[in-house]
Amino acid sequence: MILSIESSCDDSSIAITEIESKKLIFHKKISQEKDHSKYGGVVPELAARLHAEALPKILEETKIYFPHLKAIAVTNEPGLSVTLVEGVAMAQALSISLNLPIIAVNHLHGHIYSLFIEKEILFPQIILLVSGGHTQVIEANRFGDFKILATTMDDSFGESFDKVSKMLGLGYPGGPIVEEYAKKGDSERFNFTVPLLNSPKIAFSYSGLKNQVRLKIQELGDKKSKQDISDICASFQQTASTHLIHKLKKIFKTRTIKNFAIVGGASANLYLRAEIQKLCDSHKVLLHLAELKFCSDNAAMIGRYAIDAYHNKQFTTFDKITSSPKVSI
Ligand code: KG4
Ligand code: ZN
Repeated sequence: MILSIESSCDDSSIAITEIESKKLIFHKKISQEKDHSKYGGVVPELAARLHAEALPKILEETKIYFPHLKAIAVTNEPGLSVTLVEGVAMAQALSISLNLPIIAVNHLHGHIYSLFIEKEILFPQIILLVSGGHTQVIEANRFGDFKILATTMDDSFGESFDKVSKMLGLGYPGGPIVEEYAKKGDSERFNFTVPLLNSPKIAFSYSGLKNQVRLKIQELGDKKSKQDISDICASFQQTASTHLIHKLKKIFKTRTIKNFAIVGGASANLYLRAEIQKLCDSHKVLLHLAELKFCSDNAAMIGRYAIDAYHNKQFTTFDKITSSPKVSI
């Protein structure tokens, strides 16, 4: 079995995965969303302190599996530096005390492997990763062969939902809240411009759209009704998703794609899922999705990646592992 740890942002999570059967034996996650909500976003130092409390509590429940462990997997990049070290320090301590190798896992590779939890891998795939930190289209050919086809020039898709929610005073994380308001809103009421619509660039940008929303909120002033808020959310969500679809269409045009997937926290967005399903249907492409509970950050996806890393002997040791906030795929 492999014990995996995830602490790159605001979720403390540990999983135990069986190497041969790929079965998820144990999985627990303590989310800090409520603690950060009043600040409208994640406060790194608070997140680190909460990981320091939550991770040992979860670990306690996994002790019965210690005799069966073959490796300790941990997210070491990218993420918040002060929270990554909480997981890495725990992995180092376990590696020394149980005399086990460490498998260092790139968080984004983990999101890709969220598609394969308790399943066989399926490559090649074109994957849209939409999270709080990233918006990328990735060509995933096989384990260790991942290429970025498109990325964001500024904010990420998920982050733009967080910021819109914060500007409207709705709380954190913004994604599910904005999606909920959008359900009751009129997406045609506000004509936000789709980013990079006339640019040939295959890239993403959300800072301009965020600014358009900010100006609209200012224009409506303090007397915004619930309907106004819902209409802003619906119009924003539609424009943010249309931007993704518009650039994906360009990618679909230039390649023969059999399998397409969406991963990352924001892949839980049902409006986006439906729009991408339509795109895939029209191109006769199969759409793959992770289970909703595995879209946001979790240790099960880190454990699933670690199984393939284990077979590829991709090990490190407690004195060699480093963590980095920024490294991309
Ligand atoms: O993958 P994740 O849990 O953490 C990162 O790796 O960043 O993604 C969290 C992000 C947050 O920005 C959150 O607002 C967004 O995913 N998110 C959503 C939805 N659920 C979560 N964005 C849009 N619609 C949703 N339903
Ligand atoms: Zn993530």
